[in-house]
Amino acid sequence: MALTSSHQAGIDIKVRKPSFDFTSVPEIWLSTAQTSHFMNALSVFIPATERLVIDILRRRIPGVHNPQLRVEVLQLIKQEGTHARLHRLANQQLAEAGFSAIEGLTHWQVKAFEFLIKFMPTSFVTSIPAAMEHFTVNISRAVLIEQKYWQGNTEENEAVRFLIWHAGEELEHQAVCFDVYREFGHKPLWFSLSLILFWMPLSALSTYLVQGYFLAKSRRLKTLTDWRRWAGFIGDSLPLFFSGAWKYCRKGYTPWTKDQLRLLQNTNSDKVP
Ligand SMILES: [Fe+2]
Ligand SMILES: [Fe+2]
Repeated sequence: MALTSSHQAGIDIKVRKPSFDFTSVPEIWLSTAQTSHFMNALSVFIPATERLVIDILRRRIPGVHNPQLRVEVLQLIKQEGTHARLHRLANQQLAEAGFSAIEGLTHWQVKAFEFLIKFMPTSFVTSIPAAMEHFTVNISRAVLIEQKYWQGNTEENEAVRFLIWHAGEELEHQAVCFDVYREFGHKPLWFSLSLILFWMPLSALSTYLVQGYFLAKSRRLKTLTDWRRWAGFIGDSLPLFFSGAWKYCRKGYTPWTKDQLRLLQNTNSDKVP
């Protein structure tokens, strides 16, 4: 591979260090309780997930022979390190607000990841960063394109600013982990199958369960209307987990379509919104 997907599209993966103060974020910081607690559930999983992505990529760097791809991996690692640190801060605020299960959930997530790394074949482990990026970019795109659905009429707050900024960086480095997977000669078909058979159901189930915990704990699952709202949200958001798995098998696949490039340009992660 002479050029990486990102380089070919003229993408520069930059390291930025903005700061956010989560101390006065309201409980409903997006359009509804459902959207807010969905993002809170993802936030619970993000620090350990970013850590896993970073660890796997660090171990794969010696096998990456494309010098441009190496640079991009190192930039991605730095971006993800910042994301993990900021999500830990956000999660601390959630724990202080009474969502005390966060620490235990992270503990079990780490144990599950340790099990996967130990017992799954190398090709599967190499595909994990690309699988994680598949979901983060699906969710990021939705947040950036469907701002009315996610943000509604909420007043601007630090959590929203952080979400939009993080989504922009996820978009920016979306091609890197799949380029690494291909650099190791692994087949796109196995990647697509691992998404469909394993990661898609697991990610959806674990996220909705934790979202349910947040909703129940904040007394937003008390009436039939509450449950209907949650079911409606699940129906709306399921495609974020279950779409796009086969696109990786297309010959010459690159995520950088004209629409994606335009979305990234409009997002401008250099400026925190
Ligand atoms: Fe990230
Ligand atoms: Fe990422």
